[in-house]
Amino acid sequence: MNKSKTYWIRTFGCQMNEHDSERLAGLLEVQGYRKVATPDLADVAVFNTCAIRENADNRLYGNLGHIKAVKDVNPDLKVVVGGCLAEKDRETIVRKAPWVDVVMGTRNIEALPALLQRVEEQGIPVVEFSETLNVFPSALPARRDNRFHAWVAIQYGCNNACTFCIVPSVRGHEDSRRIGDILGEVKDLCADGVIEVTLLGQNVNSYGRDIYSTPKFADLLLALDGIEGLKRVRYTSPHPKDFREPVARAMAESSVVCEHLHLPLQSGSSRVLKLMKRSYSREKFLDKVAMAREIIPGLALTTDIIVGFPGETEEDFAQTLSLVEEVRFDSAFTFQYSPRPGTVAATMQDQIPPEVVTERFNRLAEAQHRISLERNEAHVGEMVEVLVEGPSKKNPDKLTGRTRTNKLVHFTDRELVGAGVAPAAGTGLGRLNASIGVSSAVADAPAIPGQGEFRTLEITGASPSHMEGRLV
Ligand code: 5AD
Ligand code: SF4
Repeated sequence: MNKSKTYWIRTFGCQMNEHDSERLAGLLEVQGYRKVATPDLADVAVFNTCAIRENADNRLYGNLGHIKAVKDVNPDLKVVVGGCLAEKDRETIVRKAPWVDVVMGTRNIEALPALLQRVEEQGIPVVEFSETLNVFPSALPARRDNRFHAWVAIQYGCNNACTFCIVPSVRGHEDSRRIGDILGEVKDLCADGVIEVTLLGQNVNSYGRDIYSTPKFADLLLALDGIEGLKRVRYTSPHPKDFREPVARAMAESSVVCEHLHLPLQSGSSRVLKLMKRSYSREKFLDKVAMAREIIPGLALTTDIIVGFPGETEEDFAQTLSLVEEVRFDSAFTFQYSPRPGTVAATMQDQIPPEVVTERFNRLAEAQHRISLERNEAHVGEMVEVLVEGPSKKNPDKLTGRTRTNKLVHFTDRELVGAGVAPAAGTGLGRLNASIGVSSAVADAPAIPGQGEFRTLEITGASPSHMEGRLV
């Protein structure tokens, strides 16, 4: 163990990557590495990459160009590329950027220390990919940046084949983690001060099907209720085709599962949904929304929508707009379709001209903006409980908290901001899996004013992205 070594890590993309990066960092910290803020101070620089966003490849090779300049100054720097783009490009990465030392797959997280050692010993780049998941990354040591919140992966990979999506080809087939392991981890996290967990999976509603032959997501949600110290459970993402009553009932019944459902729509046109291979129609989606709203009181609903999928006509797009007006999502992530090499949709005829996509996208964004504002305005005058996340990014004199419905509320609390709040108990690192032979380590995440406290607020104002509150 070398105490003086340092690492720097840059994460792109989704929460699953954030989760994996926490593990990569945790593994390095167990080896005695310390986190640093810039790559020029590091012995190891890690890029955990994403393949979903447009231009992800260009950005990666741009970043690798920058890191080469750092490595020219410090030839001992080891450069690691992991994540979905690593899966996609594999050997190409070391061909295009021969100064990269390790390229590793999304199923090889636990191998990082051994791969670095191999580079030390052999002096040549190593490229490592595995089809199977030997160790569930959640079982690895983690360096969490938030003492009160933890990501918990319950499932890896995806068995669907949405035609626009690169995920199945880079993350592989669905692998679920056993319920007992998940509950054990959440108990350990809560004993360590965590009060909120977000369960992660590519298609959480089918959680458990591969190991128990029947989906167990509702059972998992119910089993989490009652874990000492656990106050909030969130999850992402369900697939509308598999979102059924037992899960909605479990959400309503559980005292810890939050009243927020992120149900990715993608398109409001049944014809486009078919081209996307989403296995549900517009009507089915509307039925699921009605079912969820009936069963879960006070439910907030958010979604993902893609505009300009190949073949999308003005009539198809009008269907998306009308569904958005009908459902009135609390908020939506809207995407302009972009072809991902290696997906079915990328080879489809009838790709939509960019100016048409942009024009439709703007119309959708405008409609959703108005709806989000109206939905937030409807809460003015209500009392809400928020879990404080820390100072607001825009105005450090204010704090930001999140409601159970996942809405951000900015407010002033003189007691917490500017008063030098004492660090709360608990550590950012310390849950370790004895079976992989690592010993306990402690590395406190920085104390952030107010983080992890609950406050009751009266909502006094609203914008499309957040609400304003007053302490009561
Ligand atoms: N083009 C545009 N958006 C996409 N998404 C996934 N693949 C693409 C693509 N090729 C969006 C989907 C998904 C979200 C995570 O990213 O809406 O739900
Ligand atoms: Fe991609 Fe569809 Fe799987 Fe989601 S469900 S990860 S969009 S293939």
